[in-house]
Amino acid sequence: MSLPKAELHLHIEGTLEPELAFELATRNGLTLPYANTEELREAYRFEDLQSFLNLYYELMAVLRTERDCEDLANEYLERAAAQGVRHAEIFFDPQAHTSRGLELGTVVEGLWRALGDSESRHGVSTRLIMCFLRDESAESALATLEAAKPYLDRITGVGLDSAEVGHPPAKFREVYETAAALGLRRVAHAGEEGPPEYITEALDVLGVERVDHGLRCVEDPELVERLVRERVPLTLCPLSNVRLRTVDTLADHPLPAMLDAGLMCTVHSDDPAYFGGYAGDNFDAVRGTLGLSEERLRELARNSFLASFLEDDEELRAR
Ligand code: ADE
Ligand code: ZN
Repeated sequence: MSLPKAELHLHIEGTLEPELAFELATRNGLTLPYANTEELREAYRFEDLQSFLNLYYELMAVLRTERDCEDLANEYLERAAAQGVRHAEIFFDPQAHTSRGLELGTVVEGLWRALGDSESRHGVSTRLIMCFLRDESAESALATLEAAKPYLDRITGVGLDSAEVGHPPAKFREVYETAAALGLRRVAHAGEEGPPEYITEALDVLGVERVDHGLRCVEDPELVERLVRERVPLTLCPLSNVRLRTVDTLADHPLPAMLDAGLMCTVHSDDPAYFGGYAGDNFDAVRGTLGLSEERLRELARNSFLASFLEDDEELRAR
């Protein structure tokens, strides 16, 4: 669906399509433990978040050079543009690359080569958000932020992702305080698999401006009331929720009820190469299966720009 929209919940490593994974493996002299792209696609049957993350971290080993990162981002931006994305705030996972021996600069510069001219090339403005892996230590997150200091002109904000349960937001209080002092914007995954309390903690302890997923807020009416009152954006990813089994089927997704409750929801793609669809595909899915009206779809698109980190004048131009 080509309704103009902003993509606010997108892990660039999750846009690695099987075809590009094989191409990069060949380019870098690596052998994937899959015979071909069909066999790799067969592995995309997930039980939960962790079973997905295992494959996600395994496959990103094909990214070795600046050019690999540039190609990954360029392919994504081209697909996004074709689906009506006018602005993309793109997550990347520095620790998932530095732990494999890549320099942080290789990843940032490579991504930036694509993001830097995305507006003229694809008609998509961009921002870059570095995420800390919550199943790594707080010290590792702090060291990552320190290592990112030379690149802060290219990085708009920080996020928190990876295995959620057992890794509450408060573990990262200090790194978020430091990030805020450096002028970085703050978001965090919360309430994807983790309990509603993690959403409250992300707001109160980390000071996040948006909550990524936030789906499990529906279990706590007082929290819903607060999120409505404070107009906290929730970046929902319906196809991801189905593939990672946080909802049984798309028809069971609480998005319509969440909109009816007055929550500021937005719809995004998370890891589109793995979950069966980019931003427009997610819009199509909620329109088709959840029967959202055109007015609701326009509300979702409008919310995506309002919840973005664009300045007001940029926002109006992007819409
Ligand atoms: N990293 C990539 N995709 C993720 C997701 N859906 N949840 C948490 N961490 C992630
Ligand atoms: Zn995510």
